[in-house]
Amino acid sequence: MKPKIYVTRKLNEGILAKLEETCEVTLWEEENLPVPREVLEREIREADGLFCLLTEQIDAALLEKAPRLKIIANLAVGYNHIDIEAATAKGIMVTNTPGVLTETTADLTFALLMATARRLVESSDYLRRGAWVTWSPMLLTGQDVYGSTLGIIGLGRIGEAVARRAKAFDMKVYYHNRTRKPEAEEQLGLEYCDMATLLRESDFVCILVPYTPGTRHLIGHNELALMKQSAILINTSRGGIIDETALYYALAEGKIWAAGLDVFEQEPVPANHPLLTLPNVVTLPHIGSASIKTRLRMADIAADNLLKGLAGLTPPNLVNPQVDARDTKR
Ligand code: DGY
Repeated sequence: MKPKIYVTRKLNEGILAKLEETCEVTLWEEENLPVPREVLEREIREADGLFCLLTEQIDAALLEKAPRLKIIANLAVGYNHIDIEAATAKGIMVTNTPGVLTETTADLTFALLMATARRLVESSDYLRRGAWVTWSPMLLTGQDVYGSTLGIIGLGRIGEAVARRAKAFDMKVYYHNRTRKPEAEEQLGLEYCDMATLLRESDFVCILVPYTPGTRHLIGHNELALMKQSAILINTSRGGIIDETALYYALAEGKIWAAGLDVFEQEPVPANHPLLTLPNVVTLPHIGSASIKTRLRMADIAADNLLKGLAGLTPPNLVNPQVDARDTKR
């Protein structure tokens, strides 16, 4: 009997075919709509494996309905939408897709930083609505990137990749992280500092920490108050790390200069969200890792993780190694 897997979004044909070689696959066919909770609750009852996205809340209540489930293969590096503790308690493996999206997400982070600093979206809108009457010395002037100071909060793989890009722009780079990284300091010329110093000194602050209960609203009113009036905040991690109400007021009242946001506390962000009304905010729909090559590789890695786990092997990207694949082979 082939193991049964449930896949929560339409996947590339090649990846589906690979899963179908050894598994009985049921698929949520919609490409641009998430699977409704009631469908997921129904489908998970029979599933041995789940291939999911960050749009699904995999919580303890859902896992209670999954008596056969051995592995959850997540198509993302971040797994804050999965209750790891509950999965571990039930002996369910959870995997993610680290590494493969590092450079792509760092590219997007830097693109967002530059777009925000040089007001690219605002300038493009200005031109398209026919407002451009003449070249003018201070028209749509922004902030310099080259030679400025960057503060990176969270020096993981993506943080380091952003720091490498910053070095090519001759930026001074500060970082704050749970642990110091002497090797990265040495190789990339980074300077470690506490959060308050980083916020005070940086022209650009990039949020690159994972979203956990401990990092929720890490950047709120007090932190924003420490930043320079000319500073720009960039977030390509998870929306909940910033208190969006505090950010709105800081931007609207000119306490900081601008923000570039790829992620929001609620996604999709409602069209009437106050942050979307501000001209000094560049917003994107969570596309950090969205290059064709990277998204296909992420799906392929997630599929490999799933197949290895179901075959009784330890998947390469197991986030809860307390659960051993061999124990879950039922
Ligand atoms: C992730 O992998 O966590 C990103 O947010 C989506 O690529």
